[in-house]
Amino acid sequence: MTASSGISIRGVSKVYGQGERATTALAPIDLDIEPGEFVAIVGPSGCGKSTLLRLITGLVPRTGGELTVFGKSVTAPVTDIGIVFQQPILLEWRNVLENVLFQIDMRGLDRARYLPKAMELLKAVGLEDFADRRPYELSGGMRQRASIARGLVHEPPLLMMDEPFGALDALTREQMRIDLERLWMETRKTVVFITHSIDEAVLLADRVVVMSPRPGRIETIMTIDIPRPRGLGARKDPRFVAATDAITEIFLERGVFSAGGHG
Ligand SMILES: Nc1ncnc2c1ncn2[C@@H]1O[C@H](COP(=O)(O)OP(=O)(O)OP(=O)(O)O)[C@@H](O)[C@H]1O
Ligand SMILES: [Mg+2]
Repeated sequence: MTASSGISIRGVSKVYGQGERATTALAPIDLDIEPGEFVAIVGPSGCGKSTLLRLITGLVPRTGGELTVFGKSVTAPVTDIGIVFQQPILLEWRNVLENVLFQIDMRGLDRARYLPKAMELLKAVGLEDFADRRPYELSGGMRQRASIARGLVHEPPLLMMDEPFGALDALTREQMRIDLERLWMETRKTVVFITHSIDEAVLLADRVVVMSPRPGRIETIMTIDIPRPRGLGARKDPRFVAATDAITEIFLERGVFSAGGHG
């Protein structure tokens, strides 16, 4: 790849605060993400995952290093981007369709032009029959689906997801994972997906970035070449087992887990 076409992270670090209260959230890290690639970032709580996402999106300034997104140095919030947060923040007074279109309104784009896209995305996330419902009429999983549709409606080339399934029950989470893979296979956006779940990272990503406890560093980057769609069956794939074992081993060594049972 050329450094200009995707995301290029060179020696990027982040220290919050100053003096005695300074917190090094991210040690200098290097990472390249190719256009159309699905990258998952997995690591323990507080290792700087959300910080890295905020740096890439330009929501907070980096302390050091070089960071380019689509060839441009990040110096202000990147606009060509969709963000899905852990909590689906929906406007209660807007129905589902209007919540998706909020993205368009906020950007001053033409609603009429994006209406078909909004409907198409609601269909893709299984909410076409709920377009005129208010958020309080939806389940947690449905709310998260609506927020994913909102994150994609302006057709951003880059989708940043910060533990988007963190608040969901295990069954819904598995379904969302399968649906997200399908959506990604159809659209081939560049995706940066943050998660605490080793399984989820390995099942979704082309590459998994494994981070170590604070101050966050990249421990290793693992290429996952399980064929897609991975669906439910991939959990039995020896490559899934090998990758999740290897990541678990790293977390054991770093004290994120302590071994019990049969180890
Ligand atoms: N605005 C801030 N001001 C000061 N310190 C912060 C700020 N945001 C994060 N930190 C610190 O930076 C470190 C990394 O935080 P960050 O939110 O990036 O972690 P994380 O990996 O996303 O954790 P989690 O998995 O719990 O979401 C933590 O020690 C946190 O206390
Ligand atoms: Mg976080």
